[in-house]
Amino acid sequence: MKIVVLTGAGISAESGISTFRDSNGLWENHNIEEIATPWGWEMNPDLVLEFYNQRRRQLHEVTPNLAHYALAELEKHHDVVVITQNVDDLHERAGSTNIIHLHGELLKARDEVTDDVYDNPGDINLGDFSPNGHQLRPHIVWFYEPVPLLDKAVDEVRNADHLVVIGTSLVVYPAASLLFFTPPDCKITIIDKSIPETAIKVDSLEGSACEKVPQFVNSII
Ligand code: OAD
Repeated sequence: MKIVVLTGAGISAESGISTFRDSNGLWENHNIEEIATPWGWEMNPDLVLEFYNQRRRQLHEVTPNLAHYALAELEKHHDVVVITQNVDDLHERAGSTNIIHLHGELLKARDEVTDDVYDNPGDINLGDFSPNGHQLRPHIVWFYEPVPLLDKAVDEVRNADHLVVIGTSLVVYPAASLLFFTPPDCKITIIDKSIPETAIKVDSLEGSACEKVPQFVNSII
C-alpha cells in the first residue's frame, strides 16, 4: 500500500518544538511579516537570521518522539513518503528515508541570489557568503514565496492509497491543498490534538501525536 503522510508542527510538539498557532505558539510571539517574508528579510536580515539561528540551536537540543519513530517503522511494512511542512530534521533522525521538506530545512542555507543550497548546521550571520560570493539566507520557504517541491508532493498524493495528515492546522496553502489531490478511492486520516475543519470526508483520530500515531501505525502494519 502506498501511504503518504503529511506532517506539521504538531508532530514535533512533544519533542519540545513550539507549534506556530497554538496558544503561546511562534506566531503569537513573533511577527510573521518581519520574520517569514521576503520583505522582512530585506528590511531587517539580522532579526530574521537571529530567529532562525535560535530555532537551529534548539534543534540540536531536541530528539525525535514516538510519533516520528512510528512513521519510520511504517516504512518497513508499506511504501511510505513523508511530506513535511516542518523545517526540523526529526523525521530523518527517527529513520524515515523518503521525506519531502515542503517548507525548507533549518540545517541548510541558501545563496540569496542563485538559490544554491548548502548544508549548514550552525548559525548564519550577515557576511556569511556562499562560494559564489553572495549572502547566505535560511533555506526556508517564506510566505509569498513559491514552493519548489509542491509538484513533487502533488505527484505523491495523486498516487496515494492512504493519506495520513498529522499535527497541522491546515491553514497554510498550498500545503493544505494537498488533500484535494487524493484519488477518489484514497482513504484520508487526520491525527491531531484538535481536528481541523476540512471540506472533504476524513477519518479523525483526536489526541496527541505520541499517543495516536503509534496506535494508528500498529493498526495498519
Ligand atoms: P500550526 O501551528 O498551524 O498547527 C499545529 C497543529 O498541531 C494544530 O492543528 C494543533 O492542534 C496540532 N497539535 C499541537 N500539538 C499537538 C500534539 N502534541 N499532537 C498532535 N497534534 C498537535 O502548524 P502547521 O500546520 O505545521 O511555515 O503550520 C503550517 C506552516 O505555518 C508551517 O510550516 C510554517 C508556518 O508558518 C513556514 O514557516 C514556512
